[in-house]
Amino acid sequence: MQNIYKNITGWFSSNEADLLYRYALNTDGPILEIGHFLGRSTSVICEAIKDSNKQIVFDSYDLNLNTEKDFLSYYEPIHGPLEIPYLLKDEVISKKLETINLVKANLNEHNLLQYVNLKTENFNTISNKKFKLIFADVLHDKAEIDLNLPYILKLLESNSYLAVHDLSDDLLKYTTNNFNLNFIERTDLLGIFFV
Ligand SMILES: C[S@@+](CC[C@H](N)C(=O)[O-])C[C@H]1O[C@@H](n2cnc3c(N)ncnc32)[C@H](O)[C@@H]1O
Repeated sequence: MQNIYKNITGWFSSNEADLLYRYALNTDGPILEIGHFLGRSTSVICEAIKDSNKQIVFDSYDLNLNTEKDFLSYYEPIHGPLEIPYLLKDEVISKKLETINLVKANLNEHNLLQYVNLKTENFNTISNKKFKLIFADVLHDKAEIDLNLPYILKLLESNSYLAVHDLSDDLLKYTTNNFNLNFIERTDLLGIFFV
């Protein structure tokens, strides 16, 4: 891995990048990412596909939230009153840019855009498709887990892996107590489950 993610703004540590890379390198796909933002985690998966020399289908979804209004009208019904995340404010809203254009430019700059199908839609619009590896960056608290995890589990083939970002001790306990998945390992805040 060339560690291209280090050049892309986002929330993903070196240990987390190494762990996600390992699972992406060892799958035959298809792979789904939910929440690409500016493409930091996306670049890790693209690098693994490139390095594997396999023809792997990789779909990546994001809501393409580009204004304060976009962000608050999606998230406040889920979490209640919220602050706008500083990276969204600094990199997108204040510069009047669009997330989708930024992620495309970031991946294109490093010749990784060809490895991913970027979609600006809610992942819950996916139908008639199943994945062998899902990376989900949309399970940040119990409310988001209750909202998103049931549909994520429907999108996984049996004997597949789910990588979850921002998995605290408390959320790990909540997830394994309330859903049918087996915890395998965690590095920093990236957890891996087998389903
Ligand atoms: C924490 S950010 C992702 C950060 C990114 N993975 C990185 O490496 O920097 C979470 C993203 O998930 C997206 N998102 C939230 N709910 C979603 C949904 N239901 N479908 C698709 N994307 C969603 C948000 O728009 C946001 O950009």
